[in-house]
Amino acid sequence: MNEINIGQATALTSPDPLVLVCTKKEDGKLNMAPLSFFMYASFNPPMLAFAMGKAANSGENIRRTGKAVLAAPGVSLKDAVMAYGSANGGKKDKLAQTPIALQSIEGTDIQIPEDSRIAFEVTLEKTVESGDHYLYLCNIDKMLADESKEALFAWDGYAKVAPAEEKE
Ligand SMILES: Cc1cc2nc3c(=O)[nH]c(=O)nc-3n(C[C@H](O)[C@H](O)[C@H](O)COP(=O)(O)O)c2cc1C
Repeated sequence: MNEINIGQATALTSPDPLVLVCTKKEDGKLNMAPLSFFMYASFNPPMLAFAMGKAANSGENIRRTGKAVLAAPGVSLKDAVMAYGSANGGKKDKLAQTPIALQSIEGTDIQIPEDSRIAFEVTLEKTVESGDHYLYLCNIDKMLADESKEALFAWDGYAKVAPAEEKE
């Protein structure tokens, strides 16, 4: 085997999970950012964890409000996902710049994309410093799904988003 760096590792483990972290900004507006550093962290109670760069506006929002919705975007959102992944929501109104169809869901006032396969409504339990990221350990309050929607995954170390295909 050959020794590799972490960038190469992320490309080799792809496709990786992909969700849009939906949060409320300080001005009350909605923000979204794509995220692949996501994992389930407990069955009982249901919990998940995710890591975001320390400067991310999404992280700032979840630390301030304690709330987020993680929604797996459908295939129609390919371009919007890349656009939301290339700007900081504290400096830009990404949803105004790249508008998408939204839906309201029960149990939260944070809207999510209309084209979502699954959504996790979460409450922040604990923030852990993790190198150049913060790791957010969250309780899952509610999970909603629409199995008719095809989800996007992150490919090639986050350079590309596309559906995941099963090999026969
Ligand atoms: C496919 C993809 C996956 C990403 N995964 C992560 C991730 O797991 N953690 C992270 O901090 N940033 C990740 N990013 C980058 C953030 O989405 C990007 O830094 C974004 O601008 C943050 O927005 P915010 O400042 O509004 O929160 C990813 C980007 C893309 C395109």
